Amino acid sequence: MQSPPENSAYQLALSGLRETRHHWLITGVAGFVGSNLLETLLGLGQRVTGLDNLMTGYRANLAQVRAVVPASAWARFDFIEGDIRCLDSCRRACQGVDIVLHQAALGSVGRSIADPILTSDVNLIGFLNVLVAARDARVRRLVYAASSAAYGDHPDLPKVEEHIGRPLSPYALTKHVNEVYADMFARCYATDAIGLRYFNVFGPRQDPRGDYAAVIPQWFDAMIHNRPLRINGDGDSSRDFCFIDNVVQANLLASLVDDRAAVNQVYNVAVNARTTLNELFAMMHGLLAGRFAHLDGYRPEYGAFRAGDVRHSQADISKAARLLGYQPTHRLEDGLKEALDWYVAHLGTSRSR
Ligand SMILES: NC(=O)c1ccc[n+]([C@@H]2O[C@H](COP(=O)([O-])OP(=O)(O)OC[C@H]3O[C@@H](n4cnc5c(N)ncnc54)[C@H](O)[C@@H]3O)[C@@H](O)[C@H]2O)c1
Repeated sequence: MQSPPENSAYQLALSGLRETRHHWLITGVAGFVGSNLLETLLGLGQRVTGLDNLMTGYRANLAQVRAVVPASAWARFDFIEGDIRCLDSCRRACQGVDIVLHQAALGSVGRSIADPILTSDVNLIGFLNVLVAARDARVRRLVYAASSAAYGDHPDLPKVEEHIGRPLSPYALTKHVNEVYADMFARCYATDAIGLRYFNVFGPRQDPRGDYAAVIPQWFDAMIHNRPLRINGDGDSSRDFCFIDNVVQANLLASLVDDRAAVNQVYNVAVNARTTLNELFAMMHGLLAGRFAHLDGYRPEYGAFRAGDVRHSQADISKAARLLGYQPTHRLEDGLKEALDWYVAHLGTSRSR
């Protein structure tokens, strides 16, 4: 991992965490983002409870964390297999907890268009249950995964937190309503919450398979196995791809920030860069070509644009920089290089829940 700059807010937060133990709840702990948060927190000597129903997450993700942290760290982790749609499970998981990192949700624009009721059930009722359980357990801070999907059809680039458009999918709507709920809870019940609008996160343990897989693990999987790779649209659509370490940083900073002006806000979490899908393909192909001879002459196929997708996305990250001290440590290419060995080692194997 690239180290955060000396005396940065993140460096100070990490030092503080090495000295003070908190009790954290990570919902969605068996998923991509959740398991990476778990690995970092256990590595810092923290106590963690995890809640997950394994709907899109994997026990194998937890096993990978277990393999890389000391046994004494793993002993400070409790896993509850449960559903955020069940208020009792949320209450049980919040017992004695100081800080909640709420990641559990059904991601994917496409899944939400195919099944808006299921996505809304998990992302809205589940979110409300977590808010209520955290409030009643007197949790100090709730940090939750919001999404860049909230920008919907707003044309401005880069995206600034205050200016959002109309949602383009049921998923986008649920993530926006989460923000509205958290904001209302702050006024109604004096709760402390911070929403982090993630932009196209990637890194180890992100699921490469299935209809709703994200583009980077899906493409690495296709390239490594010499399968066809499809770009939806003409490849000129662009995204602000954000390596997982930046997301972990934002979560820890948001969890610990004291400045009242920083609380009950939402923040973009990305890099403030924009890469087209064609550029991404060239970058990933370049990184893998030296390892796999079959990639000589390998080219993408082009298909139709996907419903609900925005054309371009790029984050203004100045609010997170100003109020949280967020400074991304990884640009796209740094993250791809850092995760490359993981992709090569793990995308060759099948995973079971
Ligand atoms: N990955 C991204 O690029 C991205 C971008 C924007 C926002 N987000 C948000 O970040 C969060 C984490 O995403 P991820 O990429 O790690 O996805 P993921 O699917 O890998 O992880 C989500 C986890 O939540 C669990 N879960 C789902 N429904 C549940 C339920 N009803 N009860 C308990 N657990 C449940 C899943 O089993 C899974 O382990 C989500 O809220 C997602 O909407 C992700």
